[in-house]
Amino acid sequence: MILRHTGRAALLALLLCGAAATAVMAATPAQPPVPAILMTPEAHDIHSYAQPLVARVTHVDLDLTADFAGQKMTGTAALDIAAAPDAKEVVLDSKGLVIKGVTDAKGAALPWTLGKADPILGAPLTVTLNGARRIVVSYDSAPGGAALQWLTPAQTAGKQKPYLFSQGEAILNRTWIPTQDSPGIRQTWTAKILAPDGLTAVMSAEMLSPPEGEPVAGGSLYRFRMDKPVASYLIAIAVGDLAFKPLGVRTGVYTEPSVLDKTANELVDVEKMVEAAESLYGPYAWGRYDLLVLPPSFPFGGMENPRLTFATPTIIAGDRSLVSLVAHELAHSWSGNLVNNATWSDFWLNEGFTVYFENRIMEKLYGPERAQMLADLGWTSLQDTIKEVGGPASPDTRLHLDLTGRDPDDGMTDIAYEKGATFLRTIEKAVGRERWDAYLKAYFARHAFQSQTTAGFVADLRENLIKGDPKLEAAIGVDKWVYEVGLPDNAVHVKSAAFPAVDALAAAFAKGGPAPAAKWQAWSTPERTRFVASLPRQLSAERLAALDKAFGLSAQGNSEIRFVWLQLAIANRYDPATPSLEAFLTDQGRRKFVAPLFKDLMEQDTWGQPIAKRIYAQTRPLYHAVTRQTVDTIVK
Ligand code: BES
Ligand code: ZN
Repeated sequence: MILRHTGRAALLALLLCGAAATAVMAATPAQPPVPAILMTPEAHDIHSYAQPLVARVTHVDLDLTADFAGQKMTGTAALDIAAAPDAKEVVLDSKGLVIKGVTDAKGAALPWTLGKADPILGAPLTVTLNGARRIVVSYDSAPGGAALQWLTPAQTAGKQKPYLFSQGEAILNRTWIPTQDSPGIRQTWTAKILAPDGLTAVMSAEMLSPPEGEPVAGGSLYRFRMDKPVASYLIAIAVGDLAFKPLGVRTGVYTEPSVLDKTANELVDVEKMVEAAESLYGPYAWGRYDLLVLPPSFPFGGMENPRLTFATPTIIAGDRSLVSLVAHELAHSWSGNLVNNATWSDFWLNEGFTVYFENRIMEKLYGPERAQMLADLGWTSLQDTIKEVGGPASPDTRLHLDLTGRDPDDGMTDIAYEKGATFLRTIEKAVGRERWDAYLKAYFARHAFQSQTTAGFVADLRENLIKGDPKLEAAIGVDKWVYEVGLPDNAVHVKSAAFPAVDALAAAFAKGGPAPAAKWQAWSTPERTRFVASLPRQLSAERLAALDKAFGLSAQGNSEIRFVWLQLAIANRYDPATPSLEAFLTDQGRRKFVAPLFKDLMEQDTWGQPIAKRIYAQTRPLYHAVTRQTVDTIVK
């Protein structure tokens, strides 16, 4: 017997409700408190040691000092626990944490053990409850732990002060917070952070202290509160020399002071983006929407930390051309933060929905042409990803992933993003935009502040959209899309009407024609990206030089264009671009750029491998653990 997700949730509610739970227990005295069958394959999170049917964390209260000299967060995490009446212990996730002790709320010591450490998951931290429903863990963050990056002043824009930031998704927060680190276990949280004098702390929550903190011995104290239950991977912090500029009534941006004006200028449309998003799928649920634009080692384009999106400075192109990334992270405020993947196998529920929604926001603000270009680039990326993961028969082309024995990070390819978005476009086409939008808006409202499984979404889709219509069921082919490999035949390919002309000019240039300088001037970033990316991979040094000269590609400040140019240069072992490549790999550490470039270099044998090894020896210490971990598997 397999209980569906909803069945499991209902049972959990029973277990957690005292009287009813007693009745359940009394009726089945011979049973263990949580029969294994209740952990359904869909909802059970294989990447967490937590046993949420026995005891689950409902609130996290952090009291931490950011110790820059020791490169650690140190202090306490007080956890509120909901547990079955006879629960003996609570199991938390931990990876490398230095545990100093655990007490109950009154300070009485509680027994605890750290189990055997798994290289991916870390170790279970099991605390004997002795009847407690609030426990206090004293600890230091993991030495060298993956979530936190401690930057030297040299790695910042201002070059004067150090900087700290965290990255929680997917399972990194267990290196600095001892809680149940599973996306299916939502927790409210509060934090009190002591930052050194002259540094500002921000978190993905409401700031309760004044912007400059409260002066205390040893620094400034910052207080935060997140009163909506969120998945643990969404708890985020940064401490640095930060300044803030409002963008609109409920939007604003934090950066280091020297780059604040430039950054704010790039992000002028953020308030309008929130309005566009709300007009599509319902009210923004989190109060403020601010961004933190980080130093260049931030390993992702963006991270949807609630109320405070973290973003790479590589989106600051100077011409506002890369702001779709903000639309993406903002969209996660619905698809991801309001309704989030219950397990990492359901990652496409976060990212596929978000890519779809991002594109709708872009369409609303900048028109269908721009949205179509972005979607068409996504289609190309999907085709490339299918090849990269081993072709259309590869199990990793499934939306619902099998991550048994793997780091969730391994499954996080463009399949979740682009096949996921393509699936939703295919449904949109089958039912029409009006009906689809109404469904989506209601879906977010129905499941607000809940985690969702793939099976749960499919059930909701059948119940509220397909409603037993056999023609519609067949037209969409839900199970095929979600559980099977490859790309179904009915996949909707959104095409840009502008791209065929761009492709034709690229082909003509490759054959020896002139660089289309006037066109390039008039083109948008997606068209320029398309032009460079669609050139044949083999070009003569003369053609490459002509291209670089005409468009200044080696000196491109637009990171997306620079990236596709460098890929082309590496494919041709084009030495004149190597200084530009080296600078690009040194000046930023965004994994999406860094990893493919190192991979391309390593594929160029005696030409590329020495370059890769030489550059990586210098840049490795600059990168965040997430980027380092990936590049370590490439440059060996
Ligand atoms: N949530 C992701 C970032 C992420 C994914 C972190 C998986 C850890 C594990 C974020 O929303 C994202 O998708 N970022 C993209 C940008 C986006 C425009 C596609 C990125 O970082 O490139
Ligand atoms: Zn995303």
